Amino acid sequence: MTIKQSSTRQSSLDVSPDELRELSSRVNELVLEYFSEVSSLPVFPETFAGDTLAQVGATLPAEGEPVEQLINDCHTIIKNSRHNGHPRFFGYVASPATPVGAFADLIASALNSNVTSWRSGPAATEIERTVVRWLGSLIGYDEDARGLLTSGGSMANMTALLIAQRVKSGREASRKGLWRSDAPMTIYASEQVHMSIPKAADILGFGRDQVRLIGCDDQFRMNVGLLRERIAADLQNGLRPFCIVASAGTTNTGAVDPLSEIAHVAKEFALWFHVDGAYGAPAALDETKRSLFVGLERADSVSLDPHKWLYAPLDCGCLLFRDEAQARIAFGDEDADYIKVLEQDADESFAFWNYGPELSRRFRALKIWLTLRYYGVSRIAAAITEDNVLAGYLAEIVGQAEDFELLAQPQLSICCFRYVPPAMRSRLTEAQENKAIESELNKLNERIMYAIQRGGRAYLSSATIHGKFALRTCITNFRTTRADIEQTLDIIREAAVAI
Ligand SMILES: Cc1ncc(COP(=O)(O)O)c(C=O)c1O
Repeated sequence: MTIKQSSTRQSSLDVSPDELRELSSRVNELVLEYFSEVSSLPVFPETFAGDTLAQVGATLPAEGEPVEQLINDCHTIIKNSRHNGHPRFFGYVASPATPVGAFADLIASALNSNVTSWRSGPAATEIERTVVRWLGSLIGYDEDARGLLTSGGSMANMTALLIAQRVKSGREASRKGLWRSDAPMTIYASEQVHMSIPKAADILGFGRDQVRLIGCDDQFRMNVGLLRERIAADLQNGLRPFCIVASAGTTNTGAVDPLSEIAHVAKEFALWFHVDGAYGAPAALDETKRSLFVGLERADSVSLDPHKWLYAPLDCGCLLFRDEAQARIAFGDEDADYIKVLEQDADESFAFWNYGPELSRRFRALKIWLTLRYYGVSRIAAAITEDNVLAGYLAEIVGQAEDFELLAQPQLSICCFRYVPPAMRSRLTEAQENKAIESELNKLNERIMYAIQRGGRAYLSSATIHGKFALRTCITNFRTTRADIEQTLDIIREAAVAI
């Protein structure tokens, strides 16, 4: 049978081959220019609220505008942006994107696969399932891990809690909402846990108070003795513990909870064991850090974010689990007509909607797949290892300096410290004055952080360490060098003097 070629529709959105070529070459030029100059741009632009719209306009265009104008406006947007790709960007947990990842996203957008299921995106689904397996094997979780890519760590954590709750409360009870009438179900995490866990508990209807925040040791790792006591006390009071969340790399200091011991407690009390490795899990690729991750392989589920420490462009998180059938309990068996799958083959009837809340999903896996294939695991591992080495170097020179104080020894690639002018340091030793000086130091370091953020030469964020305002550097940045680290301390000193 021959298929008749349909005549091409004349559309108002047609773009001629020449126009397309021009658009493509102008956009490519812009992107290449950006990658070549990102290290010399101000990390934070000299911009104030409203500047960007004043420069590019905010009127809805009734008619199309020339490409020239649009590219110029994109230059303005770049100029007025904060650059995660700058070598002295150390704020939050945000890595630069590799060019490979950026180009992969362009391909994914052009293809525009909707990765709901194999039927909707056969190739994309196979690639995503492969990438998920690769990620599980990369971090030493499971050679044959299952799971799905998400918008980020918050979504991965929320999905994990829902699966945990539904598995542990019995499928029928939880899907019909019957569990709500029973005794409250409780979750256990350290007091350093990321805010996405209490937020997920809130969204899922447990309430933030049902997240028991367990105290930590002096390295900010969950105290397992306190964990056990709290679970036992809650059980005695008729509550229903169902999940422990361990952090493999806390956001504040990069602490990795004692995963093996926590896995043991989870087993003892038959609780779901989730590991939030959104930031830290890729550090398992650094041989010098691998021992910290022993026990990860015993988790029921793990979150990790390729957009944090696999240098993938936003957005891309991942939830891994070992038992696909268990995960399916939370979401499976939807029966709307528009998702009916008639395929008989198990792989062809596979659908991501059975494992997470989203239906339409972009082809996030392509950027991870191309990144891993382009660089290979060894180059990615080397970049992560170097980030950890640089955090250690920063801690070392901070520790040696007269005018800095290390507040938390890095376990991975986060270093927290503060500026302490020598005059204040000597006063600090006089005990009765401590409170006033601590408060002065907090204010001073807060002002330093703000001045640095707006100054555009480096970018730090903050953490509170035992009540002290800390300057926090998170090094997940393949452009950072030792010179950048040294320069950052000088920039802090200059800011302090100016204040
Ligand atoms: C440990 C940890 N978990 C979860 C998240 C949330 O990830 P996302 O911002 O991708 O939602 C973060 C973000 O920094 C994090 O550091």
